[in-house]
Amino acid sequence: MASFSAKVHLRVVESSAFGAASGALVADTLRQKPDAVLGLPTGNTPIPVYQDLLARQRQGLDLSRARVAMLDEYLGAGERRISFFRWLQEHFLEPAGIGPERVLRMPSAPLAIESACAAFEAQLAAWGGCDLQLLGLGLNGHIGFNEPGSPQDSHTRVVPLSQITRDANEDYWQGEEVPEFGVTTGIAVLLQARRLVLLVNGERKAEILRQTLEGPISSAVPASFLRLGREVWVIADRPAAVHLSPASMQPALDATVTPS
Ligand code: F6R
Repeated sequence: MASFSAKVHLRVVESSAFGAASGALVADTLRQKPDAVLGLPTGNTPIPVYQDLLARQRQGLDLSRARVAMLDEYLGAGERRISFFRWLQEHFLEPAGIGPERVLRMPSAPLAIESACAAFEAQLAAWGGCDLQLLGLGLNGHIGFNEPGSPQDSHTRVVPLSQITRDANEDYWQGEEVPEFGVTTGIAVLLQARRLVLLVNGERKAEILRQTLEGPISSAVPASFLRLGREVWVIADRPAAVHLSPASMQPALDATVTPS
């Protein structure tokens, strides 16, 4: 099983600086590689990050060659309103001018979904893999739709969504019922990303962030597997970091690499 020795770069920032601190890492990747492949999530956490990137684009950040791989989707989303693809289009892809030819869409049609998931991974590999994968943190420790119990060697696949995840997702769709199944990039694929960036804000994520960084590395908290990634960044706002021990906070104080 692939495992990389990694140091987690933790940056704890004021809530008002959360989008800019996270956007700085994406901008840094794009400056090094203008056609970088960015793995992108949906949800509440990345909204300030997408807003920051759009502001940087207005100030000259080149997104004209950036490529995007979706992180996850609802099974059966298709062209429906409740779709992560639509969400991503609205919040980032369309305003950034990133057209469909530069987007690797997560498959969602139930028919032949397994082969479509394999084709998704093959296309991601043909693009050279993910240069930077952004991730939000689920209240139960999920990343993408890798719910608790997801193994380290998991690949892109259909997963049943837990009730806690479905309830949290209702927030994105004004309370409309969320599908029972999702399709997600697996942990093994996420760990291949050259740079992993976990975004965590708000005090309600503080306990699960502590378990992610300080608890055992185990499928009980899938986000803990990120500690095995190649280059791992955690951007947390102060409320999300309140339960972290001084030892975890040390790298944050060291401010290892600080792209601006
Ligand atoms: C969404 C995704 C999920 C979310 C997570 C946190 O594409 O992959 O893992 O990142 O559920 O959601 P928010 O950011 O809404 O708290």
